[in-house]
Amino acid sequence: MKVFEKDQKVKVHLKVNGQNYEVETEPRRLLVHVLRELGFTGVHIGCDTSNCGACTVIMDGKSVKSCTVLAVEADGSEILTIEGLAKDGKLHPIQEAFWEKHGLQCGYCTPGMIMEAYWLLKENPNPTEEEIREGISGNLCRCTGYQNIVEAVKLASQKLRMEIPKAH
Ligand code: FES
Ligand code: FES
Repeated sequence: MKVFEKDQKVKVHLKVNGQNYEVETEPRRLLVHVLRELGFTGVHIGCDTSNCGACTVIMDGKSVKSCTVLAVEADGSEILTIEGLAKDGKLHPIQEAFWEKHGLQCGYCTPGMIMEAYWLLKENPNPTEEEIREGISGNLCRCTGYQNIVEAVKLASQKLRMEIPKAH
């Protein structure tokens, strides 16, 4: 087991959205703060008790609440944040679907919600409404009442399964 001195900083290596970063951080520092300090300010903080999911990112293929991971625990991990979803300025189909179905208002929950939807649709490409609601139950939204988010995830699942031809 590693033993850290008080105030000792440790080097942490992270790969975020395909780019490598090395940061020096105290062992107590939360991943969410480190990601935001690296410039990934789409990762939001909505609570201090791990229930809102506004801080959700994909870490080594799993959705995690980055407010409940220490940056040192994430050493060597690959992380995907909302900033890494669009490619060459083209929105990811989940982002498009949230726009088309009005799945956001203030937008504060949206990055976490979209990352959770990303993980959900990888796990289950054709979810039922109930499975979608269950799948995003770790992500709170105070604006939308969830209905349009559910519609957006349904549309995203169709888009990802290529059932809907791409609009030009
Ligand atoms: S900030 Fe609320 S769960 Fe992470
Ligand atoms: S859009 Fe405002 S919290 Fe979800």
